[in-house]
Amino acid sequence: MPCYYLVFVLSVSVLVGAVPRKWNDTGVGSVIIEEAYSLPQLTELPPSGGDPPLGQTTAQLHANLADIHTQRLASMDATGVDFMVLSCASPCLQGISDPVLADSLMTSVNDETASLISNNSMRFGAFAALSMHNASAAAEELRRTVDGYGFLGALVNDYQQSGSDNATLLYYDQPEYDVFWDAVQELDVPIYFHPRIPVAQVTALDYAHAPWLLGAPHQFAVELSSHVAGLCTNGVFDRFPKLKIIVGHLGERIPSDLWRIDDGLSRKLASGIPMKKPFSSYWKTNIWETTSGNFATDLLHFHTSILGPERILYSVDYPFVTMQQGAEWVDSLRWSEGEKLGFVRGNAIRLLGLDR
Ligand SMILES: *[C@@H]1O[C@H](CO)[C@@H](O)[C@H](O)[C@H]1NC(C)=O
Ligand SMILES: *[C@@H]1O[C@H](CO)[C@@H](O)[C@H](O)[C@H]1NC(C)=O
Ligand SMILES: *[C@@H]1O[C@H](CO)[C@@H](O)[C@H](O)[C@H]1NC(C)=O
Ligand SMILES: *[C@@H]1O[C@H](CO)[C@@H](O)[C@H](O)[C@H]1NC(C)=O
Repeated sequence: MPCYYLVFVLSVSVLVGAVPRKWNDTGVGSVIIEEAYSLPQLTELPPSGGDPPLGQTTAQLHANLADIHTQRLASMDATGVDFMVLSCASPCLQGISDPVLADSLMTSVNDETASLISNNSMRFGAFAALSMHNASAAAEELRRTVDGYGFLGALVNDYQQSGSDNATLLYYDQPEYDVFWDAVQELDVPIYFHPRIPVAQVTALDYAHAPWLLGAPHQFAVELSSHVAGLCTNGVFDRFPKLKIIVGHLGERIPSDLWRIDDGLSRKLASGIPMKKPFSSYWKTNIWETTSGNFATDLLHFHTSILGPERILYSVDYPFVTMQQGAEWVDSLRWSEGEKLGFVRGNAIRLLGLDR
């Protein structure tokens, strides 16, 4: 190999090398991981479906989405948040039907995110934004951002819309995504499944009768849970048993229905369902949940008891929810300090490998 080539490779890897981070598990501050931000080049996208917290205007919400180092960091300091993982606000690249545009924005969004947080890697990390039109290209971008920038995984906003009328919906439980899942498993990083507002055709068919159900009140959970249930039943976790999937909003309601789903699927075994194990089992091997935007104490206890405390991670859903509200909720929990510490911090550190 010519010497000038080696010099080139070495200098590029120093420039682009993984963000230095000296994380360890000492400390008591929280680590929160479903926290949105936006970049100016994405403002043309369809709306996120998220309303501002009560008492805030839409303009304030947009300002909070656009900010990283000012009011966001001040609120982290005020509420005991040590570390935040940023992700591009829904629908991000999943809202772009044109594969060429989505693929080119993918590179620039991730480059810019890495650059924006590079001067404070002890407080901020990121999940990659991925265009999911092409599973191989998504895998390559995940590898580039994890190896090159120290990104902690990726966050996808439900299905990838595509087609000239936006009405072709790509779900990642199909065999053509195996090349993506293969790379995810090898890189050993989690993929966060976050909801999105539907394409116009779905909205017209399913939500015209009660449009206020769109977004957080109902539709997010209904549609994202179908995608995650597709991953389970289409055998993705049988083919890639080490995958780690994170589902926010306390599991998009699936865990309260596990008995019924197992029972219903057991009556359809003759229809050739690819999955090899009971549906509920994947929730104890491949899926983790966060409490983003769902601060229901009784539900938290229920999920902790059926899935195990190590699978439930605290998160806020900033800026759609305030860090103040989250901190007050955590304070109100009647748990031991040890239990709280695992929930707000330790589980995330282990799942994301922050201390590795
Ligand atoms: C852990 O991190 C804290 C804060 O960065 C640092 O002060 C401490 O020395 C570290 N401890 C170990 C054992 O590395
Ligand atoms: C990082 O850079 C941003 C933008 O220039 C700045 O506002 C922020 O204060 C910097 N943070 C640190 C820790 O240097
Ligand atoms: C998908 O991405 C791969 C890797 O970047 C590329 O080689 C391939 O040509 C792309 N396929 C299409 C249909 O664009
Ligand atoms: C497809 O979605 C884009 C926004 O993502 C929108 O501008 C365009 O009008 C939509 N096209 C159709 C046919 O609905």
